[in-house]
Amino acid sequence: MKTIHLGNTPLEVSRIAYGCMGIGGSWDRTEPIGEQSKREAVQAIRTALDEGINFFDHADIYRWGKSEEVFAAIWSEVPHLRDKIIVQSKCGIILDNQRYEGSLTNFDFSYEHILRSVEASLKRLKTEYLDVLLLHRPDPLMEPEEVARAFDDLQASGKVRYFGVSNQSAALIELLRKHLHQPIIANQLEVSLLHLHLIDAAVVFNQDRPARVLRNEGTLEYCRQHDITIQAWAPFKKGAVITGVTEPPSQAAQEVAQLIGEIAQAKGVSKEAIALAWLLRHPAKMQVIIGTTKPERIKAACEADGVELTRDEWYRLFIAGRGDRMP
Ligand SMILES: NC(=O)c1ccc[n+]([C@@H]2O[C@H](COP(=O)([O-])OP(=O)(O)OC[C@H]3O[C@@H](n4cnc5c(N)ncnc54)[C@H](OP(=O)(O)O)[C@@H]3O)[C@@H](O)[C@H]2O)c1
Repeated sequence: MKTIHLGNTPLEVSRIAYGCMGIGGSWDRTEPIGEQSKREAVQAIRTALDEGINFFDHADIYRWGKSEEVFAAIWSEVPHLRDKIIVQSKCGIILDNQRYEGSLTNFDFSYEHILRSVEASLKRLKTEYLDVLLLHRPDPLMEPEEVARAFDDLQASGKVRYFGVSNQSAALIELLRKHLHQPIIANQLEVSLLHLHLIDAAVVFNQDRPARVLRNEGTLEYCRQHDITIQAWAPFKKGAVITGVTEPPSQAAQEVAQLIGEIAQAKGVSKEAIALAWLLRHPAKMQVIIGTTKPERIKAACEADGVELTRDEWYRLFIAGRGDRMP
């Protein structure tokens, strides 16, 4: 598996990363992790490792902490693994329902919450340090000085090595960077052939068509300029990029899936490989975070590492995904 450096740190990470949101059983907080969920989690992680993935993405909230908890089983399954892999987690979202019903009600980047969240993640993950900590979603009440103090203390105590953000605009990162003593090394953002705003923003600049929607133009360029690795989450848009199935139905999704199928067949590789190769072809050198729990899909996704799309293939997919010709 080809690697990239995360930001401009010495951390050498696989271009394809494994997102752990899907492991750990149900989103029902009260339901313990069952034996089958444990087996499936270990199998998914082992498959990812076998495919050359050395980077694992978590968040304190995934399955109410059960994703982190179940991940810890890997330490006894694979001896001496901790130093060989990069473990990232996130904090800042508060789930306050008894049972998860999809409502993320509150964000908290306060000093106390950041420290409390990291302590809890370390305990669940059974590790002494996180390689990377990301601030999960922008908290409008963020005091950058408080975040800076939290990051300083976490770094000084050896509990977190590097810091980054997720779902954040260039402007917000700029504000944070004014106060932080550590570099922001990653920005985790949704990017896929069916979620193109980040890439399309520069193309639709100053155009009437398609109807302009302001979605933080310049964030991709800002990240590149400041050595902030973009981590693309939901690269398959929950499978829609591969299957073309969305609710409600979308012509763009159907066309993307059809074209992916044609290119995959012509190249003799999986459809998942083409979907990821499209992201990896972008010169921003993104890292893609896959979330499937199925070993066969993890393997299919990792075929992307050996696929190089031509400009023509890249543009045909881009145009299908944006649902409109180029200006
Ligand atoms: N920073 C953030 O705000 C944020 C938000 C969301 C996710 N993330 C991170 O990004 C990771 C990936 O996100 P994601 O899980 O939404 O990404 P994804 O890889 O686009 O979607 C995976 C989901 O789609 C399903 N799926 C159905 N058909 C599929 C197919 N043919 N190929 C692949 N998957 C198919 C998978 O089910 P099966 O398991 O049954 O295959 C799984 O539930 C997460 O695990 C998490 O680490 C971050």
